[in-house]
Amino acid sequence: MRRKIIAANWKMNMTVNESGSYLDTFLLEVAEEKRLDIVLVPPFTTLAYVSERLNKIQNVKLGAQNMHWEKGGAFTGEISGAMIRELFARYVILGHSERRALFGETDAIVNKKTHAAHEASLKPIVCIGETLAERDADKVEQVLETQLRGSLAGLDAKMLTDTVLAYEPVWAIGTGRTASPEQAQAAHAFIRKVLTEISDAATADKVRIQYGGSVKPGNTVELLSQPDIDGALVGGAALVARDFAEIIKLTAAL
Ligand code: 13P
Repeated sequence: MRRKIIAANWKMNMTVNESGSYLDTFLLEVAEEKRLDIVLVPPFTTLAYVSERLNKIQNVKLGAQNMHWEKGGAFTGEISGAMIRELFARYVILGHSERRALFGETDAIVNKKTHAAHEASLKPIVCIGETLAERDADKVEQVLETQLRGSLAGLDAKMLTDTVLAYEPVWAIGTGRTASPEQAQAAHAFIRKVLTEISDAATADKVRIQYGGSVKPGNTVELLSQPDIDGALVGGAALVARDFAEIIKLTAAL
């Protein structure tokens, strides 16, 4: 059985002040929820503060939204895995579609970052997903397979098991348009099939695959009850403490 994992990608939102009042509400709601993994992924400037607030809370983990693949040096504006790990973060989102589309991240870059994350003892949450044009052209599987093979190249079974995948169809992100449970399940099952080819069936069976794209309390149950959907990567709805807590509770009760 794969343990479910629900993560909040705050994107470029939440000052330290704002995250303070968020956590006041959120932690009261979920502090006792131990049936799944919960991850908060704030912007870099808010990581240290959220880390302190999570200090005594075992069941809510911390993640970062990006990192550089080098350990250090002349890379103005970048952040290393060790800098993130030092703040007690356990996860790092890599290759989010916004980074791929707006900041030119390729599968090769995502692959370098994925290896660097493991070296820094961070679990990468590697994002993949097709655009609407690619779906309309019947290229979903081709796109997912290319992204998977490129982003995960060279990872051994242990590293793959410690990697979380996030299937985020680009057309469902921030649009209010969610993949149907059937569309999402089909993509997740395909991803697991490719993982089996990349590695082996036992390893593929252990890898957790999150769905992302307009997840909200109202569609959580239908999506998260699919056999190959092991969690959610939540954007907009995770900016509202009560909504995100509700998504967690609904998932925990499944
Ligand atoms: P929304 O939940 O706002 O669609 O964002 C999804 C996402 O990109 C999470 O990484």
